Amino acid sequence: MYLPQLLLALLTLVDSALSKCNGHHHHQAGSVQHRKTAITNVLVWDGTKFPRSRSTVVIVDGIISNENSVGAVIINGKGGFLIPGLIDSHVHLTDCAYLATLQKYGVTTALDMGTTPYEDVAKCGEHGVTDIRGSGAAGTVNGTKISFTPGFPTDSFFSTPEAGRAFVASRKAERVDYIKLFLDPLGPDDATIKAVVKAAHQEDLQVIAHASSYVAYAQAARTGVDIITHAPIDKALDDNVINDVISRDIKVVPTLLMMQSTINNTGAPFFLYDNVAHSTKSLLHAGIPVAVGTDSNDNPFVPANPSFGESLHEELRMMVAAGFTPSQALQAATSVPATVFRMDDRGAIKVGLRADLVLLSKDPSKDIGNAKSIVKVWVEGISK
Ligand SMILES: *[C@@H]1O[C@H](CO)[C@@H](O)[C@H](O)[C@H]1NC(C)=O
Ligand SMILES: *[C@@H]1O[C@H](CO)[C@@H](O)[C@H](O)[C@H]1NC(C)=O
Repeated sequence: MYLPQLLLALLTLVDSALSKCNGHHHHQAGSVQHRKTAITNVLVWDGTKFPRSRSTVVIVDGIISNENSVGAVIINGKGGFLIPGLIDSHVHLTDCAYLATLQKYGVTTALDMGTTPYEDVAKCGEHGVTDIRGSGAAGTVNGTKISFTPGFPTDSFFSTPEAGRAFVASRKAERVDYIKLFLDPLGPDDATIKAVVKAAHQEDLQVIAHASSYVAYAQAARTGVDIITHAPIDKALDDNVINDVISRDIKVVPTLLMMQSTINNTGAPFFLYDNVAHSTKSLLHAGIPVAVGTDSNDNPFVPANPSFGESLHEELRMMVAAGFTPSQALQAATSVPATVFRMDDRGAIKVGLRADLVLLSKDPSKDIGNAKSIVKVWVEGISK
């Protein structure tokens, strides 16, 4: 076992504490929707770069359209840069009001990773507000630190393939968007994880595994979960693990800021950010899809509390520092997560997709910090 129990305790505590949602529904006021809007004079992100010449993007009923701009409400983009709405692939939405905060920072889709019950996240969904999806309760074994957290839902404990299948069936009954597991060296055995993955796939649900130690990461990789979130803090990934990730077509959400903050705040001697950064760079270079996730939360009892929205921009900066080009970082927050999480209605600026858009005044492909130069944000064509 490479990871000292201290960290396991802390990291599982983070997520267990976050798994209770105290959300209240805050109604948004002042939404502006026009049936047809034309954003003129903009450089439109084509998925890999900005073109040299400006063009117009037309939105009809919340969808990017190939209609002309006749009769549209005109928004003059003034030579700005139009990018797809940003996607945060790891948040803990403890209050619906955070959706408005995310939106302010250009995040138009957020993926919750463990709020219990799922309904507390699902009820936050509102037309024209940052889109939220979730896993409901995350699964673990009775006996891990997380399982001792007061209020942790006992129906998400499992340690046998049969119980793992029942866990998936319960989540399916709640209509969750995907399945979340906590793996740590005391967690479910390989046979149980494989049974969960198989049952989830039969229900057309993806499986996301929390793995912040080398041992847990290796287990997630060899058992064939769909997506691994976090990065190993105690030991960099080696070719054995990376080959499993490649051969099983696994995608990753490294949460660099959360890992760095946890290292800083716990001060544990064997945790090194180099392990996190090196592993993430190796995965990128191996061609693995890497998506931006922040682990944003507001729980005072966890090692770190990345802020909603703002931290996504810090995550982008850290990805560039870890070896991504600014364009790759932008893809990691737009087209990559759309593909990874099978959201084929977004992640690009193309006719027929949702008009989730961010207008920037400065070029983020030159300097990723420019992704913060936000002029206007649209969610399904609605801007605030
Ligand atoms: C979890 O394990 C403890 C013993 O460690 C036991 O007392 C408790 O009843 C178990 N909970 C469930 C839901 O199985
Ligand atoms: C972690 O600590 C390092 C060294 O003091 C500092 O440079 C960095 O900004 C800190 N990062 C976070 C996210 O706390």
